[in-house]
Amino acid sequence: MSSEVLMPNAVNKLVQDAMNGRASRRDIIKRGSALGLSGALMGNILRVSGVGAQDAQEAGWSLVKPEWLDVDLTGVELSAVLASDGVGAPFDQACCDFFAEQTGATVNYIKGAESATDRLTYYTQTLNAQASDFDIFSVDVIWPGILKVHAHDLSEAADELAGEGANFFERILSNNRIEDTLVSIPMYTDAGCLYTRTDLLEKYGVEAPTTWAELEVAAQTIAEGEVAEGNDAFVGFTFQGAAYEGLTCNALEWVYSNGGGTFIEPDGTVTVNSDAAKAAVERAVGWVGGIAPAAVTSYKEEDSRGVWQAGNAAFHRNWPYVYGISQADDSDLKDKFSMGLLPKGDGENADNAATLGGWNMMVSKYSENIEAATVFAKFMCSFEVQKARAIERSLNPTIVEVYQDADVLAANPYQAELFPIFDGGSVARPSGVTADLYNDVSSAVFTTVNELLSGQQTDVSGALDNLASQLESIMEDL
Ligand code: GLC
Repeated sequence: MSSEVLMPNAVNKLVQDAMNGRASRRDIIKRGSALGLSGALMGNILRVSGVGAQDAQEAGWSLVKPEWLDVDLTGVELSAVLASDGVGAPFDQACCDFFAEQTGATVNYIKGAESATDRLTYYTQTLNAQASDFDIFSVDVIWPGILKVHAHDLSEAADELAGEGANFFERILSNNRIEDTLVSIPMYTDAGCLYTRTDLLEKYGVEAPTTWAELEVAAQTIAEGEVAEGNDAFVGFTFQGAAYEGLTCNALEWVYSNGGGTFIEPDGTVTVNSDAAKAAVERAVGWVGGIAPAAVTSYKEEDSRGVWQAGNAAFHRNWPYVYGISQADDSDLKDKFSMGLLPKGDGENADNAATLGGWNMMVSKYSENIEAATVFAKFMCSFEVQKARAIERSLNPTIVEVYQDADVLAANPYQAELFPIFDGGSVARPSGVTADLYNDVSSAVFTTVNELLSGQQTDVSGALDNLASQLESIMEDL
């Protein structure tokens, strides 16, 4: 029998206190968790009390205690590297605080670098020294092969979550498994998306583009119109063009969508200098200083979103986190945009492409509190936290059932349409075939492509032939 039935008075008292304004949002969540209330019931109480809506902006408002999280960690101190400073930080801070409240542990939140490339450098330096500066850390989908030697095996922890009804996407789970070791547990998945200002498509009578060629025309038309109306800062398209991992993701989409493969194919063949790849990169070079600002060659995610969020871009390539902030009540873009598939290239093998991204929780094998760290990793990847993360941050779950949750779907209407992309339809970077050499491969790719975008090299064909030789010699070291 559940505690809701055993303690009707306590539940009623909580509802009354909530309705009379005698319980703060935090109190409601705390008391509701202690009573073991379901997420749905807690949501209802927050709603009737009015504090749910009023405090909806307060990060962590939808966090609910997983039933299995019944452990006393008083006296244990953990350090976790999570989101960088910026949009993700308040939610991750709330997760650390919530876990601390529920378990008695102290959780220090260390903000990771925004650039995945910089973050990897920090991890490898710390871990190579076998330092225990952090116990738990969020790792990118492309790093299992690079970081596996430092990882505590989380197979049992993931099995326990599965026992609680968390069905992880098999593709993502197996990406985290190296031989018999589960090096990290999937926390959320990402896929590159196109954001479109639908109000401006309408204003200029332009159809939503389905190919890059159409996007170029649409972006140009809208930008010319907006600039003519006096907004000098308006541009057609923003994306991530700086020399870091994010550019590798963008370039993969241009190339794959043009039928040009994945730089290195799963069998190890280097294809980065195919004709289709060259044509795709050539096209992107033409955007810089045209439909895209010249400064795009120094843009990471947040720089490019800044232009979009200010209402100064017709189209924007980014990850799903942008949906939630663009659709927030205080956003000027609310209800003025759509989120969907990136365009296709040209030719027979052209296809839509969304680079597979996402983050996972790893436990350092140098941690002095491996057991407690594992509980925290499980918590961050649990159904309950994935649900809250989807509702508050529009980050996509790695557990199938969370996509069927009514609250999650209401907060993220795009998810139903894009589900096939999250469920295996995105394009993986060549991190499996290149294993611990992936970062060398990606660095060579983003360096060359950034030099081409910024005009430091002008011969696309020659530069990609040269890049192909570099990738081949990296592969010889495998
Ligand atoms: C996002 C993705 C990650 C990718 C990074 C590149 O965080 O989830 O997989 O490597 O962007 O900037």
